[in-house]
Amino acid sequence: MAKETLTITDNRTGKQYEIAVDDGVIRADDLKQIKTAADDPGIMAYDPSFGNTASCKSRISYIDGDKGILRYRGYDIAELAEKSTYLETAYLIVKGELPDKHHLSMWQHNITIHTMVHENIKKLMEGFRHDAHPMGMMVGTIGALSTFYPEAKDIDSLESRRLQTRRLIGKVPTLAAYAYRHSKGLPYVYPDNDLSYTGNFLQMMFRMTERHYRPNPVLERALDVLFILHADHEQNCSANAVRSVGSSHVDPYSAVAAGVAALYGPLHGGANEAVIRMLQQIGSVDKVPEAIRKFKAGDGRLMGFGHRIYKNYDPRGKIIKKLAYEVFEATGKNPLIDIALELERIALEDDYFVKRKLYPNVDFYSGIIYQAMGFPVNTFPVLFAIPRTSGWMAQWAEMVRDPEQRISRPRQVYIGESERTYEPIETRRAPLTREDAVDAAI
Ligand code: SDX
Repeated sequence: MAKETLTITDNRTGKQYEIAVDDGVIRADDLKQIKTAADDPGIMAYDPSFGNTASCKSRISYIDGDKGILRYRGYDIAELAEKSTYLETAYLIVKGELPDKHHLSMWQHNITIHTMVHENIKKLMEGFRHDAHPMGMMVGTIGALSTFYPEAKDIDSLESRRLQTRRLIGKVPTLAAYAYRHSKGLPYVYPDNDLSYTGNFLQMMFRMTERHYRPNPVLERALDVLFILHADHEQNCSANAVRSVGSSHVDPYSAVAAGVAALYGPLHGGANEAVIRMLQQIGSVDKVPEAIRKFKAGDGRLMGFGHRIYKNYDPRGKIIKKLAYEVFEATGKNPLIDIALELERIALEDDYFVKRKLYPNVDFYSGIIYQAMGFPVNTFPVLFAIPRTSGWMAQWAEMVRDPEQRISRPRQVYIGESERTYEPIETRRAPLTREDAVDAAI
């Protein structure tokens, strides 16, 4: 029977090494034994942006990038999007199993009683300019929550981890709505715990003078499905940020604030906002060929396209594209979808995109729906952060409980100066104008 090992021959010394292969991976630590001399620190693996490096073992999400598969705890997202709700899916992601009626009702209650935030948060919100980006406000206010719940530092307490998880899932929609209301100069709307999770969020966002806000059921369900689709996605940039920051044993609010900061970037969760701005800039279907030409020439990127893992159509993108038309039934069609469809049609036939396996990802159509639902463009990444909070908390708790996890501290390949002696300023020459030397000075 074939051995589950690699035999590595170091041609520098002629020595051979047997490296174990477990679950299709080798341990980078096993490479350290490969040395050319006793004082050689041994071989390291070099993997900028971790393109081929597993940082952890996880049971939460499973992605098959070639087949376009995404499962949360073994359940396919298409089935969850059709049959589940966001809060039920959040329970599954956090706890590992679908709840029965009693546990779902308890979970809904336990989230609902945490939708309020400390009144001081309003004062914090007031400190932001009216045109502050809501993701910047979310980074600040979620981080600030760590100061209201100092007991969250007890990360080894199961009960504390559970309580902070319920608090964050409950409070993030309230913070998001407060940020929006602040930008509009509108009074904050307190949670209405008689409404569903997404219904209450829509209420806090859009209620004006009506005594009882009744969310449009089509939009309420569509947002719930979008939240299901955005809930987790294994070791993406923001989950990695939460795990890495959390590995210092800081409280989960600070770790999730780091996740929000990572998600804010246009290459990650900020892409849904960037897609709309790109579509608006293209302006009409007849301008699409010119836009594609520019993207292929490296002048900008086709935002909402491409993925590190999916080398096939992002399964979430397929569901969202279909959902758009259900939403348009209630809101009227968002004309930007015609430009998006033409971009997709041309890109999927163009060798530049086909060769690089670039397909629409989760962000390509989601913004078109959010805009049709009446959300301002700059709130779109916040609509990604809200549901991803359950995924981040699941990833954080899994990291905390993983006996193999220590503080994240990658190595480096040093390519800087060798040792130099200090030169008195009187005799020192002007600094080198080499590009990297100037960069280092910045
Ligand atoms: C999310 O990781 C996750 O799971 C994230 C996420 C989640 O749920 O958490 O799925 C959510 O962040 C989705 C991705 C949203 N971002 C965008 O839509 C921004 C546009 N996409 C790209 O910037 C890019 O595709 C990434 C960031 C998504 C992936 O980047 P990679 O894997 O590092 O790929 P790359 O930048 O090395 O690109 C490979 C090649 C390059 O061309 P060459 O240098 O080989 O000539 O493909 C090109 C890139 O120039 N390319 C694109 C492109 N994406 C990649 N060219 C034009 N348009 C694009 N969108």
